[in-house]
Amino acid sequence: MSEILIAPSILAADFGNLAAATHMINESQADYIHIDIMDGNFVPNISFGFPVTQAICKHAKKPLDFHLMINNPDHYLEDCVNSGAKIITVHAEVCNHLNRTLQRIKELGVFAGVALNPHTSVDVLKNVINDLDLILIMSVNPGFGGQKFIDNTYAKVKEIKQLADVADKNILIEIDGGVNGENAPLLVKAGANMLVAGSYVFNSINPSQTIANLKNP
Ligand code: DX5
Ligand code: ZN
Repeated sequence: MSEILIAPSILAADFGNLAAATHMINESQADYIHIDIMDGNFVPNISFGFPVTQAICKHAKKPLDFHLMINNPDHYLEDCVNSGAKIITVHAEVCNHLNRTLQRIKELGVFAGVALNPHTSVDVLKNVINDLDLILIMSVNPGFGGQKFIDNTYAKVKEIKQLADVADKNILIEIDGGVNGENAPLLVKAGANMLVAGSYVFNSINPSQTIANLKNP
């Protein structure tokens, strides 16, 4: 079995002490820090902006995984890179020219990801499968941490795994929303190889140990 990448979501951290949360992730077995940017427009919530992500970046020793839940993501790709992005993921639902956006992300020298809302069909990825590095499957409706995992995600992961297998490279399949110790092994079995976890990590007694448990099921 290939390695499972873990990306704790800083959205669930204590915003009054983001440096401490970042240091905890630095010292843990996490592979990335997941950064949720919400605009109060594409999703019904606002998280934080680039002054905050730059502050996180100053403390981060792990690469940053940007998840843009915003309209017009093209306007903010450079800001992500200037905040230390290693992965930039945009939502298929807001990109009229998804192929162009993916090309632009790659030109900036980072990995390009596409996120799908729970209702969005896998079919939208067929014509860009060779242009992306990562597919993010939303397993809750985006906008908030701490929501309940949607069970249809397993079937969707299997579908995406089949699509990814025909592509001529390794594609990361990232699951985001409601991930916990129960569904994580099932998601990996279905084909996922990268897991985001917010509240499950930060609400636990020992976040670093929780990250280790997710990484080594
Ligand atoms: C939800 C965000 C997630 C969120 C996950 O819209 O994209 O990354 O932080 O939080 P949990 O793991 O608590 O569902
Ligand atoms: Zn996210």
